[in-house]
Amino acid sequence: MSGQEEQQERWSAVDRYVEELLAPHDAALEAAIEESERAGLPQIQVSPSQGKLLHLLASAIGARTILEFGTLGAYSTIWLARALPAGGRLITFEADPRYAEVARQNVDRAGLGEIVDLRVGPALDLLPELDAEDAGPFDLTFIDADKEHTPDYFAWALDRSRPGALIVADNVVRAGELADERSEDPKIAAQRRLHEAIAAEPRVSATTIQTVGGKGYDGFTLALVLG
Ligand code: SAH
Ligand code: DHB
Ligand code: MG
Repeated sequence: MSGQEEQQERWSAVDRYVEELLAPHDAALEAAIEESERAGLPQIQVSPSQGKLLHLLASAIGARTILEFGTLGAYSTIWLARALPAGGRLITFEADPRYAEVARQNVDRAGLGEIVDLRVGPALDLLPELDAEDAGPFDLTFIDADKEHTPDYFAWALDRSRPGALIVADNVVRAGELADERSEDPKIAAQRRLHEAIAAEPRVSATTIQTVGGKGYDGFTLALVLG
């Protein structure tokens, strides 16, 4: 094994250890993963410990309304929606109708069909509908769709977040390339634009935490919307 493979195996082993004790799957989460895999969806959902983190964040702020960009098979959706109180609501966007069909079944199987409002199509096209419905303000936004649009989703969500809300963006570090100002990857350019926009934004206080684990080396940006 190369040094890099050894390191990845260690990160994965720690994830497995922590997940088994602190973020174990119940039947619905297990089925969400299995059915997503069976349907050929890419296995790029948040890890169990990251799903648990999203759940804890939503619980900690007492979130009642959650917005999510990028549903895939609804694995992160289920973790988040389970933090909502009775009467809570989660709106999630998925561009791929085939993924959305799998997500809908996973959400229904988890008993969250009444809480989760799944919108199918490219998120930017569907956002005006939310305004027309007066759907906000949101207590927590999880941005995890097409990475080039993360700064656009952030800006939209910020304008519709209540004081005390959290905005979380996944996949901002991308194996460390975030620090590479000469990167030509448009996904990296977008994460750098996100950081510059946040730095200049008086309405939020934010940080980025690097993560290692079963999903490799990446990170989250966490932004608290100020009062
Ligand atoms: N949040 C999920 C993983 C999402 S993966 C989880 O952790 O379980 C990213 C998803 O974003 C993919 O399913 C992809 O189809 C979707 N996506 C890509 N572009 C999109 C867009 N413009 N609008 C909405 N969803 C999009
Ligand atoms: C990948 C990982 C993600 O968390 C995501 O949202 C999209 C893609 C990936 O590893 O390719
Ligand atoms: Mg992600």
